[in-house]
Amino acid sequence: MSVACLRVRAVCRAVVHGRYFSRTSAVNMSAKVGDSLPEVDLFEDTPDNKVNTKDAFTKGKHIIFGVPGAFTPGCSKTHLPGYVEDSEKLKAKGISSVTCVSVNDPFVMQAWGENQKAAGKVRMLADTCGDFTNKLGLTLDAAAILGNARCKRFAMVVNDGKIEKLNVEPDGTGLTCSLSTSLYEEL
Ligand code: BEZ
Repeated sequence: MSVACLRVRAVCRAVVHGRYFSRTSAVNMSAKVGDSLPEVDLFEDTPDNKVNTKDAFTKGKHIIFGVPGAFTPGCSKTHLPGYVEDSEKLKAKGISSVTCVSVNDPFVMQAWGENQKAAGKVRMLADTCGDFTNKLGLTLDAAAILGNARCKRFAMVVNDGKIEKLNVEPDGTGLTCSLSTSLYEEL
């Protein structure tokens, strides 16, 4: 069999197993400490209220945590409430803002924030089409449970636009290293 044919077969196999990425693109590569935060538009409250990540996170020290979905049990009972409760403690350690991101629409994120009394404590931003999640390489295959691709559970510290700390749950959904209590200990 020719070398070209072997290459085609290898690419086909990788595509079938959902692992294909080109040599020149960073798609599927997880973000790492030291990387610049990807620049995308997130959405706050409504689809016409864009929040550009470069504008929001270039100056100062910020926490961004990502969740698989608004109103899901782990996110609603543990992950978001922890950051709401600890926001003042985190800010006392030099954190300028705490933001929750999820692949949901902005209306849902707003309603979830209201439900969790997050106003003034945790900013609720929608990664509506998953662009931020994809650029971070943190896509969670949750179609069977939540209907579409979501974001792995993670927490990061962004300092002057660079990722300074990144805790991604090893199984994508667990509630360990991405919790407010865990991150607080590392600040
Ligand atoms: C959760 O409870 O947070 C959860 C539920 C289903 C999928 C992912 C997360």
